Amino acid sequence: KIAACLFDLDGVLVDTARYHFLAWKKLAEELGIEFTLEHNELLKGVSRMDSLDIILNLGKLELPQEKKNELAEQKNSDYLNYIMQMGEDEILPGVKEFLTGLRQRKIGVALGSASKNAQLILERLKIGDLFDAVIDGTKVSKAKPDPEVFLKGAEALQVEPAACLVFEDAIAGVEAARNGGMRCVGIGDRKTLAMADLVIPGFDGVEPESLFQQINLTMT
Ligand code: G6P
Ligand code: MG
Repeated sequence: KIAACLFDLDGVLVDTARYHFLAWKKLAEELGIEFTLEHNELLKGVSRMDSLDIILNLGKLELPQEKKNELAEQKNSDYLNYIMQMGEDEILPGVKEFLTGLRQRKIGVALGSASKNAQLILERLKIGDLFDAVIDGTKVSKAKPDPEVFLKGAEALQVEPAACLVFEDAIAGVEAARNGGMRCVGIGDRKTLAMADLVIPGFDGVEPESLFQQINLTMT
């Protein structure tokens, strides 16, 4: 029986993954490191500093912490330039309808994101009020695939992990859901997210009932 849905943000509710990519790519190029879309998959769901470490590793570059802080900040300011220009229309198709549908059915809705910019993005998209709880990068200390972010979401909604369904576009995120004893719907490519219980391309036209049925979850 399902009681709550927990949503990742970047790449699930909004296509900020491409802004993260553009900002990281710019930084990588300045450092003389090749950075492809394939590399970018490794950064999905991964915190800002860990992402930087992955990129520096690709270039076999070691830098002092101070310099790394500076680079992470530079990336974030480039990223925020994109976010500040983002409008409500960038919410992915069907997302608002799906979230609203869950609320009508009295299913809890929480955000579970590694991003420290999550609140800002929810504000930009004007969907903050659709969430009963928001767990973001400012509230967790352990990164996905650790389940902390989703367990805290379940706790905030006062539901058992087994009654939660997670929506994720990142490999690390699908793993986090599983590590927390939750079921998971992957958003994106079936091969990349093979560990998810079900993979869908997005929320366009998706009805809660039929989705839950496909993974043997009931609402009553
Ligand atoms: C999400 C994204 C990652 C990003 C992380 C931290 O998990 O998928 O690509 O690095 O959040 O985001 P932030 O906005 O705090 O830099
Ligand atoms: Mg994501």
